[in-house]
Amino acid sequence: MEEKIKALLAEIAAFSVESEADLETYRRLYTNRKAQINTLFADFRQLPPEDKKRLGQPLNQLKQAANDRLEAFQAQLRQQNMAADRPHDLTLPGDPHMPGARHPLSIVLARIVGIFERLGYDIAEGPEIEDDWHNFTALNFPDNHPARDMQDTFFIHRNPDHLLRTHTSSVQIRAMEEGKPPFRILAPGRVYRNEAISARAHCFFHQVEGLVIDKDISFADMKQHLQFFATELFGANTQIKLRPSYFPFTEISAEMDVTCRICEGEGCNVCKYSGWLEIMGCGMVDPNVLRNCGIDPDEYSGFAFGMGVERIAQILFRVPDLRLYSQNDLRFLQQFEQF
Ligand code: DAH
Repeated sequence: MEEKIKALLAEIAAFSVESEADLETYRRLYTNRKAQINTLFADFRQLPPEDKKRLGQPLNQLKQAANDRLEAFQAQLRQQNMAADRPHDLTLPGDPHMPGARHPLSIVLARIVGIFERLGYDIAEGPEIEDDWHNFTALNFPDNHPARDMQDTFFIHRNPDHLLRTHTSSVQIRAMEEGKPPFRILAPGRVYRNEAISARAHCFFHQVEGLVIDKDISFADMKQHLQFFATELFGANTQIKLRPSYFPFTEISAEMDVTCRICEGEGCNVCKYSGWLEIMGCGMVDPNVLRNCGIDPDEYSGFAFGMGVERIAQILFRVPDLRLYSQNDLRFLQQFEQF
């Protein structure tokens, strides 16, 4: 019987089918009730127990092999029939596949980062759940500053010393605490504010913070970096304007406008007919902030700046409503595939 099993296994392996008739022959020879394998099973029942023990497994394997092969032949013929019924029509449209595109905020952020990297800035990061020290106190916010109010800031209930950072300026503090000057860092990240969501405000958005600290850094260095940034991002003849302003962590402080590239200064609804667009806050780092981070303001000075990524994307891509960035509407997102 052993020989017979081996011979049948070899026959099954060598068998091939081209047509339904071949398949029928295969069935008759190997899988039908009257096929040789089933005769073997009848013989098997008559064997003495020690032979049964030895031959049971090979016999079952043979039956399994015959059935597996049958299924493979059936699948093969199904394929053949399908191909015959429906020859390939190369003019049919393909299945659309949507590879996705980069989010406009990612596109803009990559551009901003690329420009400052060319000026030698390193990327720095900090946590989105921040403590009062890094978000406010070390940045020279007085105790009664309105930004510390629940109206403006999300505090963490379990520990009121913790909050969702309201700006990426907190990363300045972390970088200065952790390292030694000189610094030239850029900190992109998400920030949170307790605002009602509208076309112009959202409870979360993105900022990029910059910080340069070294010996003899002046306001003129800051202007140079920011002018380079504005020209690289918005185009060759972009001008910048620094207007005096106030931030607790800078002295002197300014807000920076760039010439409106949408109307080229003619006046349009994006620049509110002024010809200028405000894009960031900036200034010389307040000596108190340096001291809070263990840096001697008599030895080192520097500047910082912070901008909103949504705002820059709004200007570059004419996005009319802040909410579009986070609604995942494909009709919006697909418009950025070419960038
Ligand atoms: N942190 C400010 C904000 O959230 C932006 C800012 C202004 C950052 C002036 C700076 C700066 O580093 O110097 O509105």
